Amino acid sequence: MKHAALLGTGSCLPRRILTNSDLEKMVETSDDWIVSRTGIRTRRIAGKGEDNFRLAGRAAKKALNMAGLSAADVDLILVATITPHMMMPSCACFVQAEIGAENAFAYDLNAACSGFLYGLDLADKYIASQPDMNVLLIGSETLSARINWQDRNTCILFGDGAGAVVLSGSDTRGVQASCLYSDGRLWNLLYMDSPESLNPEIKQKDRRGCYMQMSGPDVFKFAVRSMEQAIRNLLRKENLSIDDLALVIPHQANIRILNKLVERLVIPEEKIFINVERYGNTSAASIPIALDEVNRKNRLQRGDKLLFCSFGGGFTWGAVLMQW
Ligand code: COA
Repeated sequence: MKHAALLGTGSCLPRRILTNSDLEKMVETSDDWIVSRTGIRTRRIAGKGEDNFRLAGRAAKKALNMAGLSAADVDLILVATITPHMMMPSCACFVQAEIGAENAFAYDLNAACSGFLYGLDLADKYIASQPDMNVLLIGSETLSARINWQDRNTCILFGDGAGAVVLSGSDTRGVQASCLYSDGRLWNLLYMDSPESLNPEIKQKDRRGCYMQMSGPDVFKFAVRSMEQAIRNLLRKENLSIDDLALVIPHQANIRILNKLVERLVIPEEKIFINVERYGNTSAASIPIALDEVNRKNRLQRGDKLLFCSFGGGFTWGAVLMQW
């Protein structure tokens, strides 16, 4: 059976850098507080000409270029996002038009910060049943448009950006296993409603619903526990241990969440990739942006085992194992 293996990666970050000292001028906070509680120093903020689908399209072109493919070779475009350009059409259709992938079919998927991992799992299943497919999987967000910039609990955490991968069938390389989970009962601990809500419950009582809403301490605890559990389940299923992994690329939410994960699973420092200090939490884009950085630094060798893990609104969480 064929697995979804990487042919190329790409990323695109907006030009504007928002620092912690910029945020000090906007809300009552400090660089010290933000760094000690989150590890974040800067994040990118999308400006003119940097709409979600445009960032996604630029990341996609870089990934296709690395893969040695043209846009016409793409059979499927999947965009994981919680900040689509419009409710309809999908961001993936905008990307299709942007890059000229006329032979593809395209749609979005929403699993919040776990979107890229859900997409990897889905791409792997498409490729298992249609081994000749080339899948363009993108995680792309413009969260800055859906942040309340007066709310210091959330505005310090998030950033914009896009990461893309091109996947095609391989007998040995690629996705080996995944463990994905969700628990919709916990939706109201982390959510962002549409600007004009279709949900009568929220429409009547909570007009702030269109911005990111979060119960930080609850999210923190659940994120650590659930990612730890997903990784343990995946390793058990595959009869592997942390020692067998070359690298872990986690969703870049917060340095303290990642430090707890490292502590609980005893992951050596050099085996976990962290760039949250530069980009903050870019939701579905965080893992593919990190993956592109890892790839372009040639940090992995053929045959290495790479593990991704994520956690996000829904709640959604999971882990995916990939052979390099
Ligand atoms: N600057 C300064 N003070 C702040 C602040 C900020 N940006 N944000 C909150 N505070 C204050 C609070 O108002 C509170 O003050 P009080 O004690 O006077 O009420 C105090 O700091 C502690 O707040 P608390 O929410 O308990 O802080 P915390 O230690 O839990 O850290 C988070 C807050 C958001 C950093 C932390 O809960 C977290 O990382 N949660 C997970 C968030 C996340 O990753 N979400 C996305 C998942 S995909």
